[in-house]
Amino acid sequence: MAQAAAVGALLGASTAFLAPSAAPAPAPALRGAPHSSRDSTGPGLAGAAGVGAAALGLGLLAARPAATACRAAAVKKKGVKVVHGKEIPWNLFSPKAPYQGKVVENDVHKQTLTEPTGDANWETTHVTFDHGGKVPYIEGQSIGGSGFAVMKGEQPAKIRLYSIASSAVGDDQTSKTVSLCVKRVVEVDGKFANRQKGEDKPDKAGTAYPENQVYRGVCSNHICDMTPGDEVLITGPTGAEMLLPEDPEANIIMLATGTGIAPMRSYLRLLFHDKAGASSDGGRKFKGKAWLFMGVPYSKSLLYDDEHQTYKKAFPDQFRYDYAVSREQKNAAGQKMYIQTKMAEYAEELWEMMQDEKTHVYMCGLKGMESGMAECFGPIAEKNGLVWTEFAKAMKKADRYHVEVY
Ligand SMILES: Cc1cc2nc3c(=O)[nH]c(=O)nc-3n(C[C@H](O)[C@H](O)[C@H](O)COP(=O)(O)OP(=O)(O)OC[C@H]3O[C@@H](n4cnc5c(N)ncnc54)[C@H](O)[C@@H]3O)c2cc1C
Ligand SMILES: NC(=O)c1ccc[n+]([C@@H]2O[C@H](COP(=O)([O-])OP(=O)(O)OC[C@H]3O[C@@H](n4cnc5c(N)ncnc54)[C@H](OP(=O)(O)O)[C@@H]3O)[C@@H](O)[C@H]2O)c1
Repeated sequence: MAQAAAVGALLGASTAFLAPSAAPAPAPALRGAPHSSRDSTGPGLAGAAGVGAAALGLGLLAARPAATACRAAAVKKKGVKVVHGKEIPWNLFSPKAPYQGKVVENDVHKQTLTEPTGDANWETTHVTFDHGGKVPYIEGQSIGGSGFAVMKGEQPAKIRLYSIASSAVGDDQTSKTVSLCVKRVVEVDGKFANRQKGEDKPDKAGTAYPENQVYRGVCSNHICDMTPGDEVLITGPTGAEMLLPEDPEANIIMLATGTGIAPMRSYLRLLFHDKAGASSDGGRKFKGKAWLFMGVPYSKSLLYDDEHQTYKKAFPDQFRYDYAVSREQKNAAGQKMYIQTKMAEYAEELWEMMQDEKTHVYMCGLKGMESGMAECFGPIAEKNGLVWTEFAKAMKKADRYHVEVY
């Protein structure tokens, strides 16, 4: 009952997530005017702008009481959070009362995105869930899953969060689906094992290690093995760190390692692909520059490379794309090519961009990237009489440096 009420309220109030809770934003927002939740193009982008991208968590979020279309943030409402004066969807579904969705056939990507590399954990999947329009989210949020229907008695197993890889309207632009980019955790003869020798069976991709002790990640293997029609329990959405700026002229520098590409894909769909991001003059609402740096171990692991190449071709003046393939490339000094090694090739240009208050940096994936940034920009900051850590701190304070790593 509570869940039904929450869902009904969400349907009625979904535009509230996109509406300013205090004074209306003066400039036209990146996301444009809000749409009705029943509109085929889904929720508008106006609200997300200024709020930034949010991560959507798949999991078992308890149904929250109805969110209403309020303007003031004075009264704490359930199911929404006010970020920079705007309401965004927030923990509409909890672990105790998750939303029950279904895995759908994806019209954009088939499940497995990568090719076998010889490593046990080579597989990363793109999986899409139908949420019937009842789990609204915005770019940069996450959803949680507790093993996605892996139950311990009446309760789901421990919740895992996943960054949402689709834009608010979903890959099919109906606002009824959410997609994730999930890496299958497989560890062979490591510290932990949940399959003894002889017990490991081929997964959906056909990979098996029957001769070894194997640890298979509970949630990631469950998701990677799903097929269309399977039920899934979703919690969230959550996350306010990775939201996109509202200013359509903002510049977006994206740094992703591996599945850290998920929120960046969400942004790029909005900026360069979706109807929701199109302007009335036939161009895009987004007028700034977007520059993606992606770090992966092998060229066979270059996630969403096809989409990035398409944007690069269609928007050469707005989208730049560079990648670091750590186990195949080296820099001129013979060093392993990490994302920061690649960025160092453009350090002056990037530094210049970061001086512009319209520039936002988004970092997602491995924690090591943070110290990598210091290596990359420390010398140039010093040359300019600054200390990188202080500069990064100031950017964070100005809400221009968004980091989600671990
Ligand atoms: C905000 C956020 C966003 C995320 N987004 C993504 C995303 O977009 N895509 C993605 O693929 N992942 C993402 N993750 C990671 C994800 O949440 C999971 O952690 C990941 O999928 C592994 O979960 P699992 O259940 O498969 O593995 P688990 O079963 O949880 O195993 C994880 C690790 O625990 C170790 N382990 C096993 N037993 C023990 C023990 N007894 N003691 C200590 N350690 C043990 C294993 O060796 C293994 O390395 C995100 C995480 C966060 C916090
Ligand atoms: N919102 C979030 O917080 C969020 C979202 C998505 C993913 N994640 C996390 O991000 C991680 C991504 O892992 P993955 O398995 O998907 O990635 P992956 O495919 O293994 O790629 C990671 C790449 O980063 C390189 N790398 C290793 N150490 C680095 C360092 N210090 N600095 C820069 N690059 C470095 C790796 O190189 P080598 O392996 O060759 O050394 C590899 O090329 C996971 O831990 C995932 O859970 C977090």
